[in-house]
Amino acid sequence: MSRRRIALIGFGSIAGDLAPALLARTAPGYELGVLLPPESESRVRVPEGCALLADCEELRAFGPEIVVEAAGHEAVRKSVPQCLALGLPVLISSIGALHDEALFAGLVKTAKASGGRILLPSGALGGVDYVRAVRDATSLALRYESHKPPAAWREELVKRGHDPATLAEPVTLFRGNAREAAATYPLNLNVAAALALAGPGFEKVEVAVICDPAARGNSHAITVDCEYGTMRTEITNAPSPSNPKTSWIVSRSLLAAIEQYFSPVMML
Ligand SMILES: NC(=O)c1ccc[n+]([C@@H]2O[C@H](COP(=O)([O-])OP(=O)(O)OC[C@H]3O[C@@H](n4cnc5c(N)ncnc54)[C@H](O)[C@@H]3O)[C@@H](O)[C@H]2O)c1
Repeated sequence: MSRRRIALIGFGSIAGDLAPALLARTAPGYELGVLLPPESESRVRVPEGCALLADCEELRAFGPEIVVEAAGHEAVRKSVPQCLALGLPVLISSIGALHDEALFAGLVKTAKASGGRILLPSGALGGVDYVRAVRDATSLALRYESHKPPAAWREELVKRGHDPATLAEPVTLFRGNAREAAATYPLNLNVAAALALAGPGFEKVEVAVICDPAARGNSHAITVDCEYGTMRTEITNAPSPSNPKTSWIVSRSLLAAIEQYFSPVMML
């Protein structure tokens, strides 16, 4: 069997972790194309042997079986619709972008018309299967708390008059629903958006964002209460050894999703 072709959109922290893991796989292994604008500084980081793709026309010609977005919200708005229109499955990392109702409805419409599919990974999160199973519960209460150290919220703290270096007590930066959270902190609230899409929708997920000087890493606490039972999970993600700014698990989640996509056995 020939190697499977995958197109990555973007080549930053996450794709930079994912690509070597994919290239190390054998039987049949993967061949990678990377969509980056010609002027992108990330182009120099793309490993030899991967095809550099300048636009969606070149992506189409590369002939991927699946597209993986790891580039950010702009790519979800611009490149993902074009890939879906080609009838391709697209694994979207920047799930927070989907809080924009018009964007999400447009992507779904395009996918339905072309035979493309929108695939959403669990990313930095866990327990999505449980949340999906209880999404219609009549008594459902779903809460998500993000705990990150001051280094992750430097600018936000300064804006509020706190000194990140001397912060002694936790500061609650946000309380509200997942739609407001994703709109307020689009780069940081992919997890809240993933919970909303797996579960009862953006308006019904309660979100708290806490900057905590005692936090050991980026932690996600999820609480579910409903007639089917309760779930309490707390996940603390380790930074990637190659880039401390990104959670290592995100690239592993994408790898698992890609392997699941091609597997004859699917865990849902
Ligand atoms: N689902 C999750 O749990 C989760 C967790 C962390 C990050 N994310 C998402 O993943 C995205 C990527 O994360 P990262 O840490 O690798 O970011 P990064 O900033 O390190 O890398 C982004 C890469 O995308 C490229 N890029 C930007 N806009 C592009 C476009 N329009 N077309 C093609 N390439 C483009 C950049 O040049 C860069 O190579 C984030 O923006 C975030 O939305 C999701």
